[in-house]
Amino acid sequence: MRMNYGFEGRVALVTGAGGGIGRATAIAFAASGASVVVSDIAEEGGRETVELIVKAGGRALFQRCNVADPEDVKALINHTITEFGALDFAHNNAGINSPTANEYEDDVWARSLSINLSGIMYCMREEAEAMLKRGKGAIVNTASINGLVGNGAQPAYVAAKHGVVGLTRHGALRWAKNGIRVNAVCPGVIETPMTAPLTSNPEMRKVLDGMTPMGRMGQPEEIAAAVLWLCSDQASFVTGHPLVVDGGATA
Ligand SMILES: NC(=O)c1ccc[n+]([C@@H]2O[C@H](COP(=O)([O-])OP(=O)(O)OC[C@H]3O[C@@H](n4cnc5c(N)ncnc54)[C@H](O)[C@@H]3O)[C@@H](O)[C@H]2O)c1
Repeated sequence: MRMNYGFEGRVALVTGAGGGIGRATAIAFAASGASVVVSDIAEEGGRETVELIVKAGGRALFQRCNVADPEDVKALINHTITEFGALDFAHNNAGINSPTANEYEDDVWARSLSINLSGIMYCMREEAEAMLKRGKGAIVNTASINGLVGNGAQPAYVAAKHGVVGLTRHGALRWAKNGIRVNAVCPGVIETPMTAPLTSNPEMRKVLDGMTPMGRMGQPEEIAAAVLWLCSDQASFVTGHPLVVDGGATA
C-alpha cells in the first residue's frame, strides 16, 4: 500500500509498534517522511520495526515503554521531545487480547483495563501536554469494533475498548480549541500476531474470514492507512470520531 502525506519534518509516536497494526503504522509514518518513535514493551519486535524503517531509508528510534506504567509513559514522551524535538502525531495502539481467559477473574480484568484503557489515558494526557505547548497535534487511539458493539465473551476487552472511544470523545472536546484533534480507529478482525493463534488453525481461519462480509480478514496496512489519514491535514475538521475499518462487520 503506497501513501505519502508529506510528513517530512514531523514526529510520530506509535505504541505497540513491535508488530501487527503498530508496526504497519510506524512504517507508514516513516514512508511518509516522519521521524518515528517506535515503542513497545517487547524490545525485540520494536527494534525489528526500527530496522525495517531504517533499511527502507526512514528515520526511527526505539524506546521501551509499558503503557500501563505512568512513569514509563512520561519517560517515553520526554525521550521523544529530547531526541526529535517535538511530537506531532501519536498512535496509542498498544493493547492485549486474551480470548481464552476468563475476564471475570480479578487479575485478568485488572490487566486488561490497565493496558487497554489506563494505558491509553496515560499516553493521551502526556501527549496532549506536549502538543499544547505548540498548539497543534493529532492523536489516534486504537479501539476496536468491540468499542462500539459488544461481544458475549470478553467483558474486560469490551469495557476497555468502549472506554477508549469515550476517552477519545472526551479528548476531542477538551482540546478542540487548542489545535489538537483526537480520533480513534475501530478495527474489525485483522491478521496480526494477536490473531495468529486463531488463524494458524485452518478451520478457525475460515470462521474468522467468514465473520466479515468482505469474506476476509483485514491487513494491518489497512488500519495504518486510516491512522495516517486521521493524522493528516486531509482530516483537519475530523475530531472525536471512532473510524470503523472492519470490512463491513458492523454494517
Ligand atoms: N488484530 C485484531 O483483530 C484487532 C482488532 C481490533 C482491535 N485491535 C487492537 O489493535 C491494537 C494492536 O493489536 P495487534 O492486532 O496489532 O496486536 P499485536 O499483539 O500484534 O500488537 C500489540 C503490541 O502491543 C504490545 N504491548 C502489549 N502490552 C503492552 C504494554 N503493556 N505496553 C506496551 N506495549 C504493549 C505488544 O508487545 C505488541 O507488540 C490493540 O490495541 C488491539 O486491541 C486488534
